[in-house]
Amino acid sequence: ATKKIAIVVGSLRQDSFSRKLAKEMMNMAPGKLEMEIVEIGNLPLYNEDIDTATPPAAFTEFRDRIRAADGILFVTPEYNRSMPGALKNAIDVGSRPYGKAAWSGKPCAIVSQSPGALGGFGANHHLRQTLPFLNMPAMPGPEAYLGGIGSKFQGEALADESLRGFLQTFVDSFAAWVERHTG
Ligand code: FNR
Repeated sequence: ATKKIAIVVGSLRQDSFSRKLAKEMMNMAPGKLEMEIVEIGNLPLYNEDIDTATPPAAFTEFRDRIRAADGILFVTPEYNRSMPGALKNAIDVGSRPYGKAAWSGKPCAIVSQSPGALGGFGANHHLRQTLPFLNMPAMPGPEAYLGGIGSKFQGEALADESLRGFLQTFVDSFAAWVERHTG
């Protein structure tokens, strides 16, 4: 059966390369993965004082959408050698109430990107550090640290066939990873 994948994009920027990559990957596993972007830009900063018996609607909607997914694909830039605050905030929002994390048990994979040479390695691995605590099996490989992203697109369109081939391999591996962890 088709698995539902929530894509979480770590950038809020309109012309985000992360978002463009996410959109390319969305269509790479037809019939296997049904992927949609779950937005994080409207989430209030996590604060236990507002996360009461009646939390903000944005929190509840986000948690419900993550819970409804069979797996999660993170596509993110690197900010100051770590993950963007918006992404960490979304992870924190989805992690509560304690013991009822919406993320729990969801197989996931990470793509990081940068115009620079290191491909967001720092962001990728700081994100990876949170995953065992959230009980999320993270696909070990292929690893995706996409460097030089600034030259890979022409407008919205991916214009690098070698990168397209790699993304296809990555999505195929992720589909197998999700299948293995969801049966
Ligand atoms: C950056 N950028 C960046 N790049 C990098 O390789 N390592 C880094 O540590 C940082 N730090 C950083 C901090 C902040 C606050 C900004 C705004 C940017 C550059 C970043 O990789 C570049 O802007 C990407 O294009 C952002 O990804 P999106 O928005 O295109 O998905």
